[in-house]
Amino acid sequence: MRIAIYPGTFDPITNGHLDILDRAVKLFDKVIITIARNPSKSPLFSEEERLDMLREATKGHRNVEVDSFEGLLVDYARSKQAAAIVRGLRAISDFEYELQMALMNRKLDAAVETVFLMPNEKYTYLNSSIVREISRHGGDVSEFVPPTVRRSLERKRRMKLSG
Ligand code: COA
Repeated sequence: MRIAIYPGTFDPITNGHLDILDRAVKLFDKVIITIARNPSKSPLFSEEERLDMLREATKGHRNVEVDSFEGLLVDYARSKQAAAIVRGLRAISDFEYELQMALMNRKLDAAVETVFLMPNEKYTYLNSSIVREISRHGGDVSEFVPPTVRRSLERKRRMKLSG
């Protein structure tokens, strides 16, 4: 059983993340998409809200599990007996940060490989901050996120407007 971990903040999950996930499930028997609890980030969505969106967005996938974790990614990967960490590479600007993380993770645990997958080029300009910003200003994000995320963003916006 080849298990891969797909970690991120997913605030919120976008169609770009789902594109990477679709590619990863073809390569691995199981992919655990997991939210890293990062005290230095102040996400728009709570962990529970993000987990719900991940569950809803991935419910059509049989070999996908949704989870969250705290601490080092390599420790988490080991606890799940994962063979690989999956990360998306959208553009050259991602490369330096991703290379640094991959090499540091290798240093921490040589047994876990990082596998980089390229999303469809239509997602290269997409990230969660841009989606949050478009939605905050009332723009249409339906092309960039699954319907469950669009609804959650709209709910947040209405809550902010009402007070
Ligand atoms: N499509 C769209 N957006 C994507 C994307 C894709 N395919 N891939 C990445 N992104 C965007 C995200 O939306 C996010 O955007 P934002 O900054 O605008 O919110 C941004 O790229 C960062 O990506 P994300 O996947 O959320 O990574 P991260 O940098 O927040 O987290 C972890 C990276 C979780 C892997 C890392 O912090 C980690 O390993 N944490 C655990 C602690 C640890 O082990 N640290 C040592 C690491 S060496």
